[in-house]
Amino acid sequence: MKRRKFIGNTTKAVVASTVLPLNSMAKNSVKASAEQKLRVVLVGTGSRGSETWGKSLLKGYSKWVEMVGLCDINHKRVEYAKKYMGAENAKTYEAKDFDLMISETKPDVVIVTTTDHFHVDYIVRAMELGVDVISEKPIATEVEQCQRILDTEFKTGRKVTVGFNMRFMNMSPEIKRVLDSGELGKIISVDFQEYLDLDHGSSYFRRWHGKIKYSGSLLVHKASHHFDLVNWYLGADPVEVQAMGKVAYYGKNHSFRSRNCRSCPFTDKCNMYWDITKSERMMDLYVKCEDVDGYFRDGCVWDNDIDTYDVTTTQVVYDNGTFLTYTQNTNLAYEGQYICFTGEKGRMDVRLYNRQPWEEPAPIEIRISKDTKTTKIYTIDNDKGNHGGADKKVKDLIFDPEKKDNLRQRAGSRAGVMASLIGIAARQSIETGEKVEIKDLVEFPTTWQG
Ligand SMILES: NC(=O)c1ccc[n+]([C@@H]2O[C@H](COP(=O)([O-])OP(=O)(O)OC[C@H]3O[C@@H](n4cnc5c(N)ncnc54)[C@H](O)[C@@H]3O)[C@@H](O)[C@H]2O)c1
Repeated sequence: MKRRKFIGNTTKAVVASTVLPLNSMAKNSVKASAEQKLRVVLVGTGSRGSETWGKSLLKGYSKWVEMVGLCDINHKRVEYAKKYMGAENAKTYEAKDFDLMISETKPDVVIVTTTDHFHVDYIVRAMELGVDVISEKPIATEVEQCQRILDTEFKTGRKVTVGFNMRFMNMSPEIKRVLDSGELGKIISVDFQEYLDLDHGSSYFRRWHGKIKYSGSLLVHKASHHFDLVNWYLGADPVEVQAMGKVAYYGKNHSFRSRNCRSCPFTDKCNMYWDITKSERMMDLYVKCEDVDGYFRDGCVWDNDIDTYDVTTTQVVYDNGTFLTYTQNTNLAYEGQYICFTGEKGRMDVRLYNRQPWEEPAPIEIRISKDTKTTKIYTIDNDKGNHGGADKKVKDLIFDPEKKDNLRQRAGSRAGVMASLIGIAARQSIETGEKVEIKDLVEFPTTWQG
């Protein structure tokens, strides 16, 4: 797993000395222009691909974007997605014909929204074929994948943008503004608690996310959002990671199980029973395509093979000395986040309430306390739309030629890799019981600007 083991296989592995800091934007990233529409192809036409980067993209951004190709490992899903998106001009391809899609449709950009573990294959191949990439998070689930992406970007001069939409939720620029203002002084420590309720939390264990070989665990799949935010907030690089985690609630932790909810003899007594047949979209997107790939979207959350930890605690030391303590729970009675920044001159507490069994307070509450007597509290609303309006804003910045990136919200491969590496390092630490140093994992090519 360590850098030395795979260095021999990489073409460029030289010490990082002139890489841009995390807050830099990926240079020459793909951008639409008023004169010419971007030709876009999409690989991975599942839920996220067909909606956020499919139907909504065509609805809101057709002025700048044209969908010319769609590709998936499942030929039924790609045909359904084409209709669902209303992408009449897009040719459809099976995953094995990715290269053919690129040569026939001649895209400016490939959008990658496959299962996490396979992002790398398309990111790398697209760049090798001379095309820029927009990838969903996490950019990669393994150390070797991170290195391949960095090396290919350096070699080809193409660019990767990572869809870290959480940078665009209203609270994120506000947190960044407060931290950058210096009001709290130097940040000494960050506590970040991620709360997933039973409904949302269990949804990961019904799907491919419950298997580390597909998702890299929720420390990569989910927490890469949060690690990226902290990296971006602090403008610092992680150097050391230590973690604990286990499967404490889902998977083996139950007395009965089945293959999936529809085939289950225990539906009457299972508190996790979920009837996928009630959703037309779920039926069309997954159930009607099951015979092609054998993927059950209503998989059993008690599956013995689930190895994605459902409770984790991770500690990160940054190169500026800041400590991060990050915890993730997936079977709570309520949903949200509690994030605290302790600085030399004060403390900021950020509480995000998403769903809870009590009267709903304002969605996002920010408290700034300067000493033991002085505190101020204010609230921010989420915007309407998916992920508190963030899914729209990330596309606005990428595709609208008028939008300026004043806050450096557009993330490149370096930010993507750093976020993934914390999760991967945490996984390694859980498996070995040892502290992991980020510098032992990948090397950033010299003079590369990711
Ligand atoms: N930023 C966000 O808020 C957010 C939200 C949801 C999902 N995502 C990301 O979007 C991506 C897709 O998630 P989803 O919920 O749509 O999952 P999904 O299971 O609905 O879709 C994944 C698609 O990839 C296809 N696929 C799997 N392996 C493939 C391969 N080797 N080659 C080509 N296609 C392949 C599947 O057939 C499926 O159509 C994931 O990377 C996920 O992390 C991001």
